[in-house]
Amino acid sequence: MVLNTKEGKLGIFNPSEVSDPAEIYRRVNTDVPTHFRSTCSYDATPCLSKEELPPYYQPWMDIALRVPELVDSHKLRFHINEMPLLSSQFLQKHRELRLAHLALSVMTMGYVWQEGENKHSRGVSMLPHNLAVPYWEVSQRLGLPPILTHADAVLANWKKKDPEGPFDMENLGLLFSLPGGDSVRGFFMVTLLVELAAVPALRNIPVVINGVRCGDTEAVATALDAVCQSLQDMTDALKLMQVYVEPSVFYGIMRIYLSGWKDNPCMPKGLVYEGVRAEPMEFSGGSAAQSSLLHCFDELLGVKHEAKSGAFLTRMRNYMPPAHRQLIQDISSQPSLKSFVQQQASERLHRAFQHCVTKLLALRGYHINVVSRFITVPAARARQLRHQRQELEAEMISRAPAALEERGTGGSGIMTFLKTVRDQTKDALLPEMSKDMKPHS
Ligand code: HEM
Repeated sequence: MVLNTKEGKLGIFNPSEVSDPAEIYRRVNTDVPTHFRSTCSYDATPCLSKEELPPYYQPWMDIALRVPELVDSHKLRFHINEMPLLSSQFLQKHRELRLAHLALSVMTMGYVWQEGENKHSRGVSMLPHNLAVPYWEVSQRLGLPPILTHADAVLANWKKKDPEGPFDMENLGLLFSLPGGDSVRGFFMVTLLVELAAVPALRNIPVVINGVRCGDTEAVATALDAVCQSLQDMTDALKLMQVYVEPSVFYGIMRIYLSGWKDNPCMPKGLVYEGVRAEPMEFSGGSAAQSSLLHCFDELLGVKHEAKSGAFLTRMRNYMPPAHRQLIQDISSQPSLKSFVQQQASERLHRAFQHCVTKLLALRGYHINVVSRFITVPAARARQLRHQRQELEAEMISRAPAALEERGTGGSGIMTFLKTVRDQTKDALLPEMSKDMKPHS
């Protein structure tokens, strides 16, 4: 996949500055968490999400805002086929482009999966040119792939109902939804809260790097304590998933609209973007594996992934905004934190480092429980119920795509992948303490 990632064009940073912690600090504070900045009381910059496009794009908005209803009535494809071909040239600001990408992504997912998995194989293999061409252009300008990504569905897809109100579940709403009712809002907004809980950790990464460079063990230990606290807060936020998302709705209804056309047995060749390229193209579906957070923590703490899972995670970086990708790269090119900790005779520093790795391990352990509750258990039930269509649950769950039973929406072989990633995290523990630590399973 060739992505046009002209960071210079977006005015974000100069790649020659990658080894400078001050530059990383600037990026953490001025670019990566653009979507978080409105939440920080000391930063008045408006949030990333924008609710309106220029009036010229009303035909997109009219359809994108009605995707769940139009999918339900099987009319979405009809409306999209009738949509005028609009030029993307009137989209100028970054936030307009992000909103356009989100709107076009939601339409695309609805278009491809309107008839579910089975009828799909007899149906869509091509995205019509009036959607595909502007979608491709907007994607190229942003350096994002032409499919719904985590950066769309979660990072750009929220608004505060009361702009002065708190940043919590009650006050958060989606800009665009997909079939699945309240669970869709729950899924994307809880994920957003996990991202938010990570902000203090992100802000402390440059402090850690600076401390390592200056040999300031105390500063590094204090910053690692903050990272540790953030990791705990992320796990706590993830616990809200079971409050706001219904597993049978997630599994049976929502999930297909997040899935892509790479490593997906029901679209083995991918999708033709009409008017863009004659051959089909393959793109993975949306997954929080496309969030930059854990990639940043892995690079900071020196978590090394095994070849296959590492390749999947590296591929997921192509689904992030270029600035996020670059930030991960920058963190990875810094002097090793783990070696620094090992060279210092500071028990406090050793402990702070170990706690961070342990919290990351616990987060991954808890995430595996979530995946089990939302995928493994309903998948087993779906196999059981596939032919019984009487009750509502059976109806919903048995409609779930069989192609995704063993796979994540990002296309990974779920449990093997997640457990390998968790076990590799364990290996980042400092040797002398690794026996005493009891990671979650
Ligand atoms: C119902 C909730 C969730 C389910 C069912 C779920 C499912 C999955 C699955 C199946 C994968 C494997 C990759 C793929 O093929 O997509 C994955 C990976 C991943 N997910 Fe989730 N996920 C959920 C929520 C979250 C949340 C809220 C986060 C945090 C932002 C998150 C972070 C990750 C990360 C970082 C990975 C990559 C593996 C790793 O680094 O440990 N997930 N998830």
